[in-house]
Amino acid sequence: MPSVNVATEPGLPKYLVVYRRIRSAIDDGQLRPGDRVPSVRALAAELNLARGTVETAYELLISEGYLTARGQAGTIIALDLPALTMTSSPAENAAPTERNQPLALQMGLPALDAFPRKLWSRLITQRARQTDIAGLSFSDPRGYAPLRSAITTYLGLYRGVQCTPDQVFICTGYNAVLELVCESLEMGGQGCWFEDPGYVHARQILLNRGVELIPLPVDGDGLRVEHGIRLHPAARLALVTPAHQSPLGVALSPERRRALLDWAQAQSSWVLEDDYDSEFRYRGRPLPALKSQDVHDRALYAGTFSKMLFPGLRLAYLVVPRELVERFEQVARLWRNRCPELLQATVSDFLSQGHFTRHLKKMRQLYSVRRALLVKALEELGGGIVKVDPQAGGINLLVRLLIGVPDFRIAEQARVAGLSIEPLSRWQLLSGEEGGLLMSFTNVASAEQAAEIAGRLLAVIAAARATDQDKAQGCR
Ligand SMILES: Cc1ncc(COP(=O)(O)O)c(C=O)c1O
Repeated sequence: MPSVNVATEPGLPKYLVVYRRIRSAIDDGQLRPGDRVPSVRALAAELNLARGTVETAYELLISEGYLTARGQAGTIIALDLPALTMTSSPAENAAPTERNQPLALQMGLPALDAFPRKLWSRLITQRARQTDIAGLSFSDPRGYAPLRSAITTYLGLYRGVQCTPDQVFICTGYNAVLELVCESLEMGGQGCWFEDPGYVHARQILLNRGVELIPLPVDGDGLRVEHGIRLHPAARLALVTPAHQSPLGVALSPERRRALLDWAQAQSSWVLEDDYDSEFRYRGRPLPALKSQDVHDRALYAGTFSKMLFPGLRLAYLVVPRELVERFEQVARLWRNRCPELLQATVSDFLSQGHFTRHLKKMRQLYSVRRALLVKALEELGGGIVKVDPQAGGINLLVRLLIGVPDFRIAEQARVAGLSIEPLSRWQLLSGEEGGLLMSFTNVASAEQAAEIAGRLLAVIAAARATDQDKAQGCR
């Protein structure tokens, strides 16, 4: 067993240090399928840790399919290791295909076929023709000024967020937003409330930055704020997805919104609202942003163009409280946080000429239809095997498994069948919920396609169940 030096990663909860070290030993091939890992008691004694700490790490590794507990016979590295590695994100985990062709059900993608490519190429061509000498130089590290203004107008009208352009920063995607936040708020070694289950990619970025993740459970009303207040009141940041919790899709209730903002005010802490796909709601109107209720200016607000336009654009934005503008500007300059001006100018035209809101309206209708197609196909073909967890908004579906096959095994085999789905267990830290399958319906274009995809997925689930049953019989 490679050594696990818990002292070398200050700020990380100890169980995550143990977890990460074992994961990298597996990724590096130092630990191989079938290898025995030390018992919880032995490892805890060797590392001078509480047994519960090692137990938590092992449970997490077991839930993600890296370890297999064999009762009296000890715990081993799983024989069928998940194909996914610690450093990759769900969308990036899609099997590499020529020119990144998307796979069916792949999360993180809007309806790529419905994007107005002709209009986009007209706008970008116009902008390219207008490029002057200044446009050939470095772009503004805070972002292109007219785009920051257009975002301010959009957020004021559609999300109830009142801000000025100097509070807006444009970054190359949400990952860069998170990096800018971590650096500017000096998050290394600081506590951050984190939804459990929660967005894996954000989790990885925060962990890599040495942030102490404080996993908090999520229920039907969203993040259990009172849990955080009780357990870790002094966290510096709370990262939340209030509109449609990622990945469960539930909305943060009005009471919890108030409690969260009150906590931040009382503790001089910050809340980062990730409003990634709030525009899409199929029952009722989109919920107002948490930031719109932030009277004490304790919330940072992040949005992305990945869902409304396309993810290849790599443009996201961050609104920061007035008190933080100067600090964020310093860091953005120091880091040379620059996004290509041609793309920013084109997006700015897309917004200010009204195309954005027209596209949004069209997409809402389209997604409502596509979502219904996939739900219907899964319900018709998958009764007794899967159950769709219906949520009021977002662009993903959570499909619960009614049979006892690990979700990661299904996700792995689905990938071989050309389906990109995510196992819910991968998004969980401590929450021991039963597994589930996460998928997107945005690119399911017809009833026939929905039926074909649902059929393919259910065949994969049936095959995974049969393999599991064979294995269980072989063990007897
Ligand atoms: C929860 C969540 N936040 C933010 C984003 C946006 O990420 P990006 O701007 O890097 O594409 C995504 C994309 O899938 C997401 O799932």
